[in-house]
Amino acid sequence: MSIRFDDRVAIVTGAGNGLGRTHALGLAARGARVVVNDLGGARDGTGGSLSAAETVVEEIQAAGGEAIANGANVTKWDEVQAMVAAAMGKWGRVDILVNNAGILRDKTFLKMELADFQSVVEVHLMGSVNCTKAVWEIMREQNYGRIAMTTSSSGLYGNFGQANYGAAKLGLVGFMNTLHLEGAKYDIRINALSPVAGTRMTEDLMPQEVIDVMTPESVSAGLIYLVSEDGPRRTILAAGAGGYACARITETKGIWLAPDEQTPENVAAGWDTIMDAEGAEEYTMGGQQSMKFLQEASKGLGIELKR
Ligand SMILES: NC(=O)c1ccc[n+]([C@@H]2O[C@H](COP(=O)([O-])OP(=O)(O)OC[C@H]3O[C@@H](n4cnc5c(N)ncnc54)[C@H](O)[C@@H]3O)[C@@H](O)[C@H]2O)c1
Repeated sequence: MSIRFDDRVAIVTGAGNGLGRTHALGLAARGARVVVNDLGGARDGTGGSLSAAETVVEEIQAAGGEAIANGANVTKWDEVQAMVAAAMGKWGRVDILVNNAGILRDKTFLKMELADFQSVVEVHLMGSVNCTKAVWEIMREQNYGRIAMTTSSSGLYGNFGQANYGAAKLGLVGFMNTLHLEGAKYDIRINALSPVAGTRMTEDLMPQEVIDVMTPESVSAGLIYLVSEDGPRRTILAAGAGGYACARITETKGIWLAPDEQTPENVAAGWDTIMDAEGAEEYTMGGQQSMKFLQEASKGLGIELKR
């Protein structure tokens, strides 16, 4: 099976460097017309120039592909709208959005200024919200859309010094979960990529021989499958160094306590069962959690609960 994107239009944010660059090159090599977005700032988001995006566009064109450069700052709604209008004006559709742009402002929470928290949330979470909002109606009308969020192991599991980044990154998983419910009937599929790669974002965290194995290209192979026609839905794909795995949020079966037993002491007494992963389930909407508790309560109380 060969994955192709002929006649598809893709927007990749933050595509002037690192992962966004290899996502854009990979999509273009498989036939997509690509908007290479990048504001061209430093790792912490300061500064800016269109040249990073333009260089990637030149690479795509040199390989026979089609692309345009765009310097929108994803945190600016008017610039994002203009970027989507440029894609529509040139190619008449937007099939794929890869929300990849990102910055770091690492510090322990004690030392972190609120401004550093806000700017990281603004770029990762609100930047993805802005770009998704700008293409959502287009994708609904097309009855076709593929959107990737870029989450992180820092959001899924935590990372020292990255409270801002982790909060923003897991926010994107919550965003994906609800968008999936609202977009499914229009064949809009939303997934999240949790990458690990040697880029300027990670270069001072890893030795060179590790960076050499953690290629952005290996991660882009996973991303390209996520946004393909037969790609999955609502999936968190972890990818790095040639490894590909799925991260899931599951909920244990837990315990049920009768009204006169609902004390912190009984929660403590039931802790081993609450934590027992045997029979844990993955839900696809929030109401399934309420249903589980209500079913347990109705069994325990011997009554039928009307919804
Ligand atoms: N490299 C990793 O191991 C790793 C791990 C987990 C998650 N990620 C995520 O992957 C994505 C790409 O990271 P990378 O490692 O390639 O980093 P990178 O710094 O090489 O690339 C990020 C790009 O985003 C651009 N950008 C930043 N703010 C922008 C804005 N407001 N508007 C438009 N463009 C903007 C930057 O100019 C840069 O080119 C990020 O979302 C990052 O958080 C990376």
